[in-house]
Amino acid sequence: MQFAGQGAYGRSVTATASSLRARVHASLHFTDPSDAGRRWRALHLAVLGIGIFSVVILSMDGILPDLRIVLRYTIWAVAVVFFLEYVLRLWVAPEAARYGESSPAMARLRWAVSLPGLVGLLATVPVIMWLAGYRIVGSDAASIFCVLWILKLGLHAPALGTLAHVISNERAPIASVLILFFILLVIAATGAHLLERDQQPAAFGSLPSALWWAVVTLTTTGYGDVVPLTADGRMVGSVLMISGITVLAIMTGVLATGFAQEERRREYLRVWEQVARVPIFTSLGVVTLSEIVGKLRTRYYPSRITVVRRGDPGDSMFFISSGEVEVRLPAGGSVQLGEGAFFGEMALLERQPRSATVATTRPTTLLVLYASDFYEIASHIPALAEAVENEAKRRRNENVGRILGETNR
Ligand code: CMP
Repeated sequence: MQFAGQGAYGRSVTATASSLRARVHASLHFTDPSDAGRRWRALHLAVLGIGIFSVVILSMDGILPDLRIVLRYTIWAVAVVFFLEYVLRLWVAPEAARYGESSPAMARLRWAVSLPGLVGLLATVPVIMWLAGYRIVGSDAASIFCVLWILKLGLHAPALGTLAHVISNERAPIASVLILFFILLVIAATGAHLLERDQQPAAFGSLPSALWWAVVTLTTTGYGDVVPLTADGRMVGSVLMISGITVLAIMTGVLATGFAQEERRREYLRVWEQVARVPIFTSLGVVTLSEIVGKLRTRYYPSRITVVRRGDPGDSMFFISSGEVEVRLPAGGSVQLGEGAFFGEMALLERQPRSATVATTRPTTLLVLYASDFYEIASHIPALAEAVENEAKRRRNENVGRILGETNR
């Protein structure tokens, strides 16, 4: 009995620790949409801002000795916070889905050598050095903290990961633009070197110095420290300036298109994941489903947000991928709709204003289908249209029944 009791106790402690760890892990995630996640992000940014601001002020000459002491303490407080954050993140690392098959120790090691792990480790350098007995002081040392900490700001920008994907996906056009850039650079530098070297031997006497002028001109930076003086040299410069604008415009176009494509691809994958939770879609074939997925958009709503308001025009319908909404019925009372249900179809089918107000009761993920896409899908997927119409009919009858019930009372 004693062993059983201990076992049960031990298990419950482990389960509590694990659920606590899971909760901490979810909140520490920089994209967590929950209130706890938002609060943590705001706190993290505030600590980062205070740390960097203190370092910047400390680097200035002539600040009061008292202020200097306060700034030093602040910088150390920030360093300790980042150290504790690192330890916490190391502890929760086994909760990450991508380390699911690893042991806790291996999961922690894999996180420690990942990019966020290394950035976190760099931010702890001041405390680690202090613990190791190195007393680093002075504003130069503080400026190094500034560089180490500013890297943490990158963790707040998930789009940086997207940028890496975009560069990888678009490497062929990016390489072509860079090659074009290089060709123009070398031709212009050689031309300017031949045309200008007699007049300006210091600036154009060698190809490397002419290359400096070509880079400054082609990138449209134009410091103006070196300028061609001969008429032919200026012609070369003019062509180079126009080419520079063109090359930069092409590069911007490549990156912008890449970003848009990557965002569409991610949204498509996000929707695929969510669609599996909506029963009305699961019976459809892959081809039909992929067509619908391309038209759905995911939207995250916090708790107690009105999604549609009674009397408003309807331009879309919604499928609940996770969470719950409350439909405030026209006759009074309300109905809860959970994961897998849909709403907002009546306004589209009847081409009437919204029949009820619908609000979230907890954080909810919705898949939005716009009216034009709904009509198009309904016209060539009769099974889906019929299921939606039947449910709309049932709801309409229910509402009419309730209204009649209310008036007869
Ligand atoms: P719509 O009229 O476009 O906007 C409000 C939505 O609330 C409506 O579509 C339905 O999807 C939903 N709704 C209305 N009445 C009911 C009901 N009785 N049960 C469940 N949902 C309803």
